[in-house]
Amino acid sequence: MATVISNERLANGVYHLRVEGDYGGKMGQFYMLRAWGAYPLLSRPLSIHQVNDDGVEFLYHVVGEGTEIFAELSPGDKVQLEGPFGNGFPEVEGKIALIGGGIGIAPLYYCARQLPDSDVYLGFSREAFRTEAFRPLAAELTVDVGGLILDSVDFNSYDHIFVCGPQPMLKAAQRKGAAAGAGGRRPNVYLSLENRMACGIGACLVCSVSCLDGQRKACADGPVFLAEEVVFHD
Ligand SMILES: Cc1cc2nc3c(=O)[nH]c(=O)nc-3n(C[C@H](O)[C@H](O)[C@H](O)COP(=O)(O)OP(=O)(O)OC[C@H]3O[C@@H](n4cnc5c(N)ncnc54)[C@H](O)[C@@H]3O)c2cc1C
Ligand code: FES
Repeated sequence: MATVISNERLANGVYHLRVEGDYGGKMGQFYMLRAWGAYPLLSRPLSIHQVNDDGVEFLYHVVGEGTEIFAELSPGDKVQLEGPFGNGFPEVEGKIALIGGGIGIAPLYYCARQLPDSDVYLGFSREAFRTEAFRPLAAELTVDVGGLILDSVDFNSYDHIFVCGPQPMLKAAQRKGAAAGAGGRRPNVYLSLENRMACGIGACLVCSVSCLDGQRKACADGPVFLAEEVVFHD
């Protein structure tokens, strides 16, 4: 069991959880967390927001009964962490854009720490949060509230683009990635999918993702996929 260091409310329904312990992980990987006994049955997946010498951090949005329990955590409380799981974002070089929508900014902070001098684009529908933490890490930081953050990104300007956010945003990023390259660079666009999960380790097929080469598992084969490999269904 890990011990909660802090669990700070950043915005309406958005919390920053810091947990003590020897926890590693790569950018884009996730942990399965629980802060309860037998019920709810399933642990909940949360992306690594940051790894420190003394612990690991998460950023989460309260959407249901599991995250409601997380929101009640106080310093000293215990949580169970399993992981890190998933493939994560690749370690790349070149000109990089990190694009996050809403709580999808969670894994991108660790990316910004690992890939300094990336351009960072953060979009929110109503209220921005955690943006100032990105500022010293980013070559350029663009924040949008209420609009479409992808409209601010010139896909032709980058070698690699990492995206995490709601599915319509991921689909739009896939389209923009496919259209890019005519007059400039063709970026590699990587999407972090947040499909619903159960086991988190590839055993149950709940997190199935349609890809050009067939069905894959978000938890074990992802959650990061090359955009051009993913087939979205409405
Ligand atoms: C690999 C991965 C990484 C994730 N990282 C983060 C993160 O860093 N921060 C964060 O806040 N959330 C993250 N999520 C989503 C998070 O796991 C869910 O929001 C959480 O499990 C919901 O649990 P709950 O018990 O609060 O809600 P539930 O009671 O299980 O569900 C409440 C509502 O939320 C919807 N919901 C539940 N899970 C998801 C999901 N995965 N995607 C979309 N809608 C969902 C349900 O359909 C339902 O409408 C991640 C998911 C995955 C798969
Ligand atoms: S969550 Fe069980 S296979 Fe992915």
